[in-house]
Amino acid sequence: MELIITQTDITQIKADALVVNLFEGAAEPTGAAGAANTATNGLVKTHIANHEFEGKPLDTLVLHSPAGLKTKHLIIIGLGKAEEFTAVIARQAAAKSIQKARELKAKTLATIVHGAGEQLDSTLASQMLAEGLLLGSYQFSRYKTKDKAKLDKQTIESVAIIASPIENLTSIETGLAKGEAIATAILNARDIINEPPSKIRPIHLARAAEEIARLSKQIKTTILDEATLKKEGYAALLAVASGSDEKPYLIHLHYRPANPKGSVALIGKGVTFDSGGLGIKGWNEMLSMKADMAGGGTVLGIFQALAELESIGQPIPIEVHGVIAATENMISGKALRPDDIIETKSGKTIEILHTDAEGRLILSDALTYATHFRPDYMLDFATLTGAAIRALGRAYAAVMGNNPTLMNVVKQASAESGELAWELPLAKEYQKYLESPVADLQNIASNDNAPGAIFGGLFLQEFVAERPWVHVDIAGPAWQTEEMNPVYPKGASGFGILLGLRVLELLVQKAKD
Ligand code: BES
Ligand code: ZN
Ligand code: ZN
Repeated sequence: MELIITQTDITQIKADALVVNLFEGAAEPTGAAGAANTATNGLVKTHIANHEFEGKPLDTLVLHSPAGLKTKHLIIIGLGKAEEFTAVIARQAAAKSIQKARELKAKTLATIVHGAGEQLDSTLASQMLAEGLLLGSYQFSRYKTKDKAKLDKQTIESVAIIASPIENLTSIETGLAKGEAIATAILNARDIINEPPSKIRPIHLARAAEEIARLSKQIKTTILDEATLKKEGYAALLAVASGSDEKPYLIHLHYRPANPKGSVALIGKGVTFDSGGLGIKGWNEMLSMKADMAGGGTVLGIFQALAELESIGQPIPIEVHGVIAATENMISGKALRPDDIIETKSGKTIEILHTDAEGRLILSDALTYATHFRPDYMLDFATLTGAAIRALGRAYAAVMGNNPTLMNVVKQASAESGELAWELPLAKEYQKYLESPVADLQNIASNDNAPGAIFGGLFLQEFVAERPWVHVDIAGPAWQTEEMNPVYPKGASGFGILLGLRVLELLVQKAKD
């Protein structure tokens, strides 16, 4: 899909569908909607007067073959109350409008830049527009042969971005380029997460990392293979991998831009399929467990975005380590057993009570590896617990951490990126559930009343060597089962990439203040 800037008057736009917007409660359609209203002899206003459309957030009104305009369909998208409008809504509006245009079988679309120069800075508004258009039109259709023609028919080929004649084109171009860079990375991450589990094995995550590293001279990879992991004592990762025919990898990406403002380590859970191991899941729980590498996908996506942003001359100047523990969790005669005790890279020992609580095991070694670089901040992304889904559903990630400064950055990044996160306490009251009678730790609580998502966070905390750290449990939002938000399709959402990038930007900003 091509994005082209145009300064054509909206009454002259010939695209199949034309998108303008309306704030809730506006007495008169103004701006582009006002121009469309005038050109159509008050048609827009008539629909508002009839209460068919009130401009509520993401509500749409479609006028077909509107006399006075040259477009086939005029799409008016509601932006909600002007005083509540944000960049996040601008992105959602763009996503919703392209979905609407696709339903209308439009091939070409023209849209104004929601909020540009009014509520939002033009660059930010343009970035949100590009992100919304690209993220909102994603489909994982690679394996559909039968409906291919139908799906192709629903593809928007080009989008004309309408800039008002007084608008600064450079700021729009800059924003669109940034939005395209970030969205490209997210779309690729979604593809990797959506691929079936036989297509994406641990080795493929390693190859994906190497491919991303090729996009930038500033990114280097180190891949620890099985022999190296054995030699260096990454026994927790090896233990989880032992039931699989696929070899595990510890993948290290390192981004070092010029004049970095501090350093961050991003750690991702990369379980390419979680059968549960000997504590095997039921068939229904096993469905979607190809996405148990979504945390790794998030880390890959952030690195691809770092590379893409650098290539358009908008780098984020911070040093970033990405560490992905990649393995399958399978069963065989060699599989990890309940009652086993493993000695992690950190030296701490873990008694295995449940082989399905494998994410925390592999992350223990990945976190230890990351601490070796002494990063200023650490952030892990993991589809760690079903309990996080039960607590917060699929809209929110659960976040836990040991450092209020970093937690505040994560919360601000969440609000600004629109990737919702809610903090759970790493309560010392529950620390006792980690205690094992025979090892330093046990991998699940023995008490049925123990909180699952928090237990996961407390467990990981044991391996961060007291460095500032936030754990992001993305078990819910990484995988969407219904339409919650037009920016996320069903299936892999790529959740965490926007959040993580915003965290990096805010940390750069903080270092400059
Ligand atoms: N990968 C799962 C967590 C998960 C569940 C992610 C559902 C996405 C959707 C994790 O490895 C797991 O199996 N966790 C167990 C932990 C339990 C055995 C303590 C869980 O949450 O049920
Ligand atoms: Zn599991
Ligand atoms: Zn898992």
